[in-house]
Parts: sequence; structure tokens; C-alpha cells
Amino acid sequence: MHTKIDVEDVLAALTLEEKASLLSGRGAWETADVERCGVPSIVLTDGPHGVRMHDPKAESFSLDASLPATCFPTAAALGSSWDVNLLTRVGEALGAESRATGVAVLLGPGINIKRSPLCGRNFEYLSEDPVVSGRLGAALVRGVQSTGVGASVKHYAANNQETNRMRISADVDVRTLREIYLAAFEHVVTAAKPLTIMAAYNKVNGVHAAQNPWLLTEVLRGEWAYDGLVVSDWGAVKDPVEAVAAGLDLEMPSTNGASAARLVEAVRAGRIEEAVVDRAVTRLLTLINRTAAPQPPVQDVNLAEHHALARTAAAESAVLLKNEDAVLPLDPDARAEVAVIGEFARTPRFQGAGSSKVRPTRVDNALDALTQAAGEHLRLSFSPGFTLSGDKNDALLSDAVAAAEAADVALVFLGLPEGFESEGYDRDSIDLPEVQLRLLDAVAQVNRNVVVVLANGGVVEVASWQHHARAILEGWLNGQAGGGAVADLLFGRANPCGRLAETVPLRLRDNPSHLNFPGSEGHVAYGERLYVGYRYYDAQDIAVGYPFGHGLSYTTFGYSDLRTTVDGEGEDVVLQVRLNVTNTGPVAGKEVVQVYVGDVDASVDRPVRELKAFAKVALQPGESTPVEFELHARDLSFFSITHDRWVLEAGDFTIGVGASSRDLRLTATATVDAPSLALPVTWDSAIWEWLAHPDGGPILLRALREAEGSSVGTDPTILAMIESLPLSQLVTMSGNRIDTTELSRLLDEMTVESS
Ligand code: GLC
Repeated sequence: MHTKIDVEDVLAALTLEEKASLLSGRGAWETADVERCGVPSIVLTDGPHGVRMHDPKAESFSLDASLPATCFPTAAALGSSWDVNLLTRVGEALGAESRATGVAVLLGPGINIKRSPLCGRNFEYLSEDPVVSGRLGAALVRGVQSTGVGASVKHYAANNQETNRMRISADVDVRTLREIYLAAFEHVVTAAKPLTIMAAYNKVNGVHAAQNPWLLTEVLRGEWAYDGLVVSDWGAVKDPVEAVAAGLDLEMPSTNGASAARLVEAVRAGRIEEAVVDRAVTRLLTLINRTAAPQPPVQDVNLAEHHALARTAAAESAVLLKNEDAVLPLDPDARAEVAVIGEFARTPRFQGAGSSKVRPTRVDNALDALTQAAGEHLRLSFSPGFTLSGDKNDALLSDAVAAAEAADVALVFLGLPEGFESEGYDRDSIDLPEVQLRLLDAVAQVNRNVVVVLANGGVVEVASWQHHARAILEGWLNGQAGGGAVADLLFGRANPCGRLAETVPLRLRDNPSHLNFPGSEGHVAYGERLYVGYRYYDAQDIAVGYPFGHGLSYTTFGYSDLRTTVDGEGEDVVLQVRLNVTNTGPVAGKEVVQVYVGDVDASVDRPVRELKAFAKVALQPGESTPVEFELHARDLSFFSITHDRWVLEAGDFTIGVGASSRDLRLTATATVDAPSLALPVTWDSAIWEWLAHPDGGPILLRALREAEGSSVGTDPTILAMIESLPLSQLVTMSGNRIDTTELSRLLDEMTVESS
């Protein structure tokens, strides 16, 4: 790593050309240096699941020519762990391996919301929900940065598809942006202070994210007080001058001096102040200092320990979707025949394609791990069943069926082969490959104890085939140690405790984004607004394959004694939620206690319930524990476009606590006080807005009665007829018989107050 520099002195010493040269990369993965002034270059590289450090000895540029590093479970898996502490531990390991290879900034985590299950990069993102994405993303950032390495939370913002990703405009209304697509970034920025943020490729409402003043300066720095560096996604900058002016600080990768020249020319021509360039240079120099040695020297990285952590993380992230008659866990010491079927058992798919790809230090496969863990009386057979290329192969199928017929249990490993999902393109289906479904169908005809193990980044449709399986374990793309973790879970050495962080829809077309994905002619309309994932399915009461938050265990949990208390009001409100959770089953396990809130009295439409807090608790059989949550004003608020800010309205809130969005074990209602929201009224405001105004209402009613007689103020039919009229129009239509003296005085007063 490098030594600290004196930012002020160096900034004063740098020429304009040198400053401009620092604002774009040197090569693919480094910042530029200015040796004359002691400014070192630093390395930024991927990725969210493992360090991909380009091997300097490699001839090729390819993403595979990298140094070995631990490949942890992908975000789709880690997001299903719902375990903040685990994510921090994974971040610490990623940071340690980054430090050991001289990486100053690790390009992750990816926290974009899973708007559509078709998004090719959903393996690289945490959830369809901003609270899960924000809390887990912040935990990963804290872990990475605890080692002195910077994180780069990405891709800011509304990068929810791969189709046309460098040009598409995500057309999203402001409230939806705030409550869904920016909320996780806001939490990570304010709670974990990532040293860098990566600006996305796409446009947001027509303006490239990497050149978007509202995103990069007004919101990020003006509202969230972010003081780190904004780096572009690789190749995301169209106009470097516009980008720096908007608040971008570092364009990656190198543009071989072209952008620097354009910046110098723009300063010389007066199109951008040199002070704006200085602002970006200061942030870069500050980043260099923040990632500099001396940090506590990182002990030699213990790759065996990191592999063990990857195995734990994979086990904690797997989701047991179904387990009829407790067919799982299998007894490794039983006297039985187990048919292991499916090429994924031997050739695991454990990570996604694209920039997050890692060269693993080693790879476990489930077949070897099962064989290793099996007792002497448990006989395992293996049949690939299909080729990963997906071509039809009857011989493989009939061999697998024969093995299944002879076995007591058939473990069928299915999933999405490489190429079915990736950075750079989206899926057009969520179905498993036909060749795998044919295999499953044939195996189920000859063996009634079928257990399916899935390996996929984006969710897959299960409704059409899950009747063939008595158990389904969703393993995700679970990293280099995933094979061992699956064996631990199947044999009960680990108890599944993952929960779905993305809904599994019954059918792709049930997904709320479906008619608006992936858009056309350069635009994608987020027509479903706030109603993403479970927010939509629950609002419409639509049946789903498996609901958000769902996951089974080898034990059971009981919920009791829900108590809620409300202290304070308005912005100072504190809503306490307390309950007890008990392990009511036979083995130790972990439960993810989820808190969903619904605003019963909202003046605007709101999702019927939204996750606002969660906690993962480990319990021994029979053990109980109190679980407490504190919700604050922001947790109960919505973003008002009228007031252009977060707003808490008084009224009742439903509190649902449970094991998934569709398994609320206990509910309560909490009443919250808050000052009423006086909508700003003007002459063009509607009569109903005036009547709802605490001061304007009585004045208007008086004026109406004096002008038109008392019936107007009392006859609901007349009021209903005129309530949507603008006041100015009603005054005109009344032939100016309405005395507007007091109304004018009130408006003058409000204008003074608001200025
Ligand atoms: C890629 C990705 C981004 C990655 C960067 C560097 O295109 O969008 O996530 O960190 O470029 O590889």
C-alpha cells in the first residue's frame, strides 16, 4: 500500500494538466499517478464475491487471467442468509485478500433491486427489497473497510437490467426512486460510509447516472452528506466535462488522455471552473489517503480459513423451500442406496459470469463431499443425467433412471448452466432447461423420494415440476465451497436457515415488471412503481411459488408475546416491537424474525406491508429468546412528491411479525401521532385541498356560506361537485360573489412563511 499525502499541498502543486490526468484511470484497474508531486497510483478491482486481481504475468487481458482468490457465495446466496454478522465476516475476508494483493478498492457490493427475475445479474444482487439490500450491503462494506480497503457500492442507480444497459433510460417516478431504488444506497452511504460509489451505466429519467447532477450531487452529497469518491462504471462516461461538473470524480478505465485533454480545454474555455476539477482531485487524493498504509499489517491471509468461511456462508444462505415428511436430512449412517444424479453434483456452477468472476483457490463438489461424509453402509451412485451443454442424451437419462430405480433416495442436482444468466444480457425465461425437466420427470416415475438441489443465480420457476420432489434445497450460486455446504445440509451437519430475499413467482408473467421489461427504444418504464416483488404480490393477493422471506428448517419456531409501544410523536417517534421466539423442534436452528409494517391511514397509496426490520436468532431445542426492534419515523414514512421530502402521517400502523411475508405469526396495531400535513395551498389548489387545510378550510367555508348561503358548506352533494375545482375557477364561476379578502391575507402570510 502507499503512504499518506498532504492533500492541500499537493493540490496547490499540481498543474491543471496533472489534475485532469488524475480524473481518469491508468490502464484498466489503476488510477493515474503524478510522481513529481508524490501522488501514487492505486488499484481498484472486482468484485463482490472475491478478489479478481489481474495476474501481471498473464499475457492475455481475459477476466480468467487473475490471481487465485477465495470465491465466496454470490450475493443472491449471501442475500438469502439475512445475516448481517455473516456478511461482515465475508467482507473482512474479502478485504484481507484485497490488501494482500495490493488492491485499494474492491468493486462491490452490488445492491441493485431485483426488479425482474429476468435480470442477468440478479446473482450479483442481494434482494428485491431495499431493507435487506441496505442492511446486508452495509454489513459487507463495513467488513471490507475494516481492513483499510475501500468498497465501491454499485451500481448507483436503477441499474436493474442488462439489456441495453449502457444507453437505456430507467424512467422512474421520484417517489419510487426514493422508496425503492435509492433507499438501499442511502442506507449504505449513511450507515457504512463506503469510500467509493460506482455510478451506473444507464440513464435515470433521461440523464446518464455518471453525469447526473441530481443523483451525484443534490441527493448523494446534498442530502446524504456523502464525502467519498464517485467512480464511473467502466466506460460509463459519455462526456467527462459534464460528468465532473455533475459530481463524478473518477472515470474508469483509462481514456488514454482524451478525457484529461477535454477537461483542460473546458477549464481554459471557461465551461467549467477549475475549482470543480479541484473538488474531484481532492476526493481522489483523500481516497488515496483513506486506503493508505500504515494500517495494522494484515496477517498472512489464511486461505483455508476463508474456504471454511465460504462453506459456512453457503450453508447459511441455502433456502430449504420444501421438505415433505422431513425427508431431509438424510442419515449418513443409514444402510441405504442414494442415487446422486445431475452433472452439477460433479461440476458445480458456483459463481456468475462477467466482471465478478473469480479464479477460486479450490472448488468443492457435492459428489465428493457426499462420498466423503457418507457412512460405511450408505452406498452412493452417480449419474450425470444430462450434459451442461443441454443437448439431448438418452443414454445419460436412462442410466440416471436406472440408478434412481435401484436407490432409496434420488438426489437430483439441477440448475442454470453457464450462459443462461450473466452480466451483459438478461434471461427471457425463468424455466429450468428442458433436458433437466425431462430427467426429473423420468426419475420421479421410478423413485418417490426425490430431493432436488438447485444451483442458480436468478430464481427459477418451480410450480410446473415441484410435485416431483419431496424436498427442494435452493443452493444459489454458492461459491467455491458450496459443494461441501450442500453435503453438510443434506446430511444434517448444518441446518438450513436461509430465507428468500426474492419472491419465486408461480409464473414469470405474474411479475409486476413483466409488461415493462426490458423496455424499448431506449426507455424502460418502471410502471409498477413501488410495487416490486412481494409489495406487488401481496397488494394483489397473488399466489406465488414461494414468498419473500420463506425458508424451512429442520426444526420449528414459535412466536409469542408480541408487544408494541409508541413513545414520542412525529419525527421523534420510537415504535418498540418486542416478542419472544422459541425453538419448538428437535434440533438447534436459526430463525429470521421479520417485521412488516402497513400504514392503514395513509393519504397516499402504500404497499399493504413492507419489511422494516429483521433479526436472525440461533436457538437450541426448547430455548426461547426475547427479540426487540426499534422503528423510527423514517421507517414509517413515505416520500411525498408534494412536499418533496419524507413524511410521517398520524394514524394506525399494522405490525406483522413472522417467518415470511406470507407467514405472519403475530400482528398488532400501533397508533402514531404526527403533526397534520398542511398541503401548501394556492389560488390554483382544488377546493378539497383548501378544505383539508387547517387554516384555509374554515376561512373558505365561511366565505362560501356568505356568498352562496349555508347549503354549500353542509350539502355533501354540492361540495362533492365542486371539490376538485381550483379555487380561482370557483371564484370566477361565482361571478366574484365569494369574498376573497381573508383568503388573500392567508395566502400572503403563507407566502411570507415559506420564503
Ligand atoms: C463492469 C461492471 C461493474 C464492474 C466494472 C469493472 O462492466 O458493470 O460491476 O465493477 O465493469 O469490471
